[in-house]
Amino acid sequence: MLFQSSLRLIRLLALLISLTIINAFPVTTQLASRASSCADVNGTFVINEQGLYPENANFDAASCQLYLSVVYNASVAVYDPYLGNMTVIEFANITRNPEFHIDGAVASPYTSTIFILANAAAAFTTQGQDVSGTNMLLQLDPVSRNEISRVNLTETTQGAYGGFQDLEFDMRGNVYVLGTFPGSIVRVEPEANNGTGVNVVEWWKVDTPTTTNGMAGLATFRNSNVLLANDNAGTTNSSLVKFDMTQAKGTPVPIPISNNRTIAGSDAMRLPVKYNGTVLLVAVDVAGIEVLRSKDGTWDNAEGLGLVSNNVSAAMGGSVTNTVEIGNRILMVEEFFADGPNGGNRTQFPFVDITDEVDRLVIVDPSFVDRSRLEKEQRSIFKGF
Ligand SMILES: *[C@@H]1O[C@H](CO)[C@@H](O)[C@H](O)[C@H]1NC(C)=O
Ligand SMILES: *[C@@H]1O[C@H](CO)[C@@H](O)[C@H](O)[C@H]1NC(C)=O
Ligand SMILES: *[C@@H]1O[C@H](CO)[C@@H](O)[C@H](O)[C@H]1NC(C)=O
Ligand SMILES: *[C@@H]1O[C@H](CO)[C@@H](O)[C@H](O)[C@H]1NC(C)=O
Ligand SMILES: *[C@@H]1O[C@H](CO)[C@@H](O)[C@H](O)[C@H]1NC(C)=O
Ligand SMILES: *[C@@H]1O[C@H](CO)[C@@H](O)[C@H](O)[C@H]1NC(C)=O
Ligand SMILES: *[C@@H]1O[C@H](CO)[C@@H](O)[C@H](O)[C@H]1NC(C)=O
Ligand SMILES: *[C@@H]1O[C@H](CO)[C@@H](O)[C@H](O)[C@H]1NC(C)=O
Ligand SMILES: *[C@@H]1O[C@H](CO)[C@@H](O)[C@H](O)[C@H]1NC(C)=O
Ligand SMILES: *[C@@H]1O[C@H](CO)[C@@H](O)[C@H](O)[C@H]1NC(C)=O
Ligand SMILES: *[C@@H]1O[C@H](CO)[C@@H](O)[C@H](O)[C@H]1NC(C)=O
Repeated sequence: MLFQSSLRLIRLLALLISLTIINAFPVTTQLASRASSCADVNGTFVINEQGLYPENANFDAASCQLYLSVVYNASVAVYDPYLGNMTVIEFANITRNPEFHIDGAVASPYTSTIFILANAAAAFTTQGQDVSGTNMLLQLDPVSRNEISRVNLTETTQGAYGGFQDLEFDMRGNVYVLGTFPGSIVRVEPEANNGTGVNVVEWWKVDTPTTTNGMAGLATFRNSNVLLANDNAGTTNSSLVKFDMTQAKGTPVPIPISNNRTIAGSDAMRLPVKYNGTVLLVAVDVAGIEVLRSKDGTWDNAEGLGLVSNNVSAAMGGSVTNTVEIGNRILMVEEFFADGPNGGNRTQFPFVDITDEVDRLVIVDPSFVDRSRLEKEQRSIFKGF
């Protein structure tokens, strides 16, 4: 109980600190918004949990909880980064069924529910040779932790393409599901048929063999209609493309990247809330995080700002599959593919804080005031509270 109330105090202090900083230091627009009222974590942390293998991680700012897709067990772990405890959620006929992996567990800001992607494992273990298996989109109530709905995407794809591994949302309640073998996006439209049913639409698909590794990540920003994706197959003219989510069918528009940067061969990507949709962080598995910027947030063009290296001891030799934003901190999500196609007995999974490295690349303005240092100063002021 004592811990709970001190947690509340930490959150309150974080809110006070953020309000104070916004009022006192109106720096650039990129820094003006705080990611959420959830408290920060104190840098890099490690989750000790056998077989966690988090293929992806998403922070739910509504509940201040971290959702991890436990890929090989095909379950979802909810981790409280402040208390350090975890609850594993299992799904009937999916969890511990070797036919399934779970590759995404993402909170929708529009529905306040969690969407989970249970995909046919064989698509990945055969690198696109066998894409015939079932892919399911599940919806979870984050409060009761009960499953709300389950949609079989394979009724639409008919097993002709697969490797589904990422999710995004638009403000009309649609869910975009990205497939890798080959590049595809399926749109799940829950408001279809006058609210009487769910439509699953093949929104975009590239016309290449299923063994072409097409796309691996999607990113959107709240209340925007721009959907970003990586083109790893070189079918467009850039490694980064954008789609217009107001359209009935998707059309990829290549985004030129300046400064001779590329995100070819990348995994998942994120537009952190703290940069208000103007900075894209792209995981390039072994190398690290490519940092791109569109100052006006339109993503007609991308400025390549540079790479944050994953070659750090804190990563424990993992491959970075995405970043995750907790409060105002940004951490790398590490996966251990070398442990085998079904993982192994690993018990330690690091989340590596790269907030300061990203800030250094983004903030080229010499008048920039280091927010993390400011927040530390504010914290010491608030100690006497
Ligand atoms: C965030 O971006 C939106 C859309 O570009 C803009 O209207 C808004 O003013 C920005 N907010 C901040 C705090 O910079
Ligand atoms: C994954 O499954 C293995 C084998 O059943 C189990 O030992 C481990 O605790 C599970 N890990 C998680 C995070 O669910
Ligand atoms: C961060 O560190 C402070 C000071 O040591 C501590 O009070 C707080 O509980 C820590 N927060 C987390 C999320 O670990
Ligand atoms: C962590 O522990 C608290 C207090 O026992 C509990 O209310 C909460 O549900 C737990 N969170 C997770 C993610 O297991
Ligand atoms: C799990 O599979 C069984 C047997 O096929 C079926 O009866 C049941 O409805 C399935 N459960 C769910 C939640 O799909
Ligand atoms: C999903 O749909 C496909 C295609 O109709 C079907 O073959 C498969 O059995 C379905 N899977 C489940 C679990 O309902
Ligand atoms: C749609 O649903 C509303 C109420 O649920 C109903 O009044 C309306 O007639 C329906 N429209 C069509 C085209 O079915
Ligand atoms: C790529 O560039 C070529 C030559 O400029 C052009 O013909 C083609 O339409 C472009 N492809 C896309 C997807 O924009
Ligand atoms: C662009 O980057 C590549 C790979 O790092 C390098 O080989 C090439 O020389 C660079 N080109 C220019 C114009 O800087
Ligand atoms: C990683 O860094 C170490 C030293 O910091 C260096 O010796 C090694 O070559 C680097 N590895 C790669 C793959 O860049
Ligand atoms: C996990 O540990 C068990 C027991 O030590 C061992 O039999 C098994 O081979 C290990 N699995 C992997 C994938 O390393």
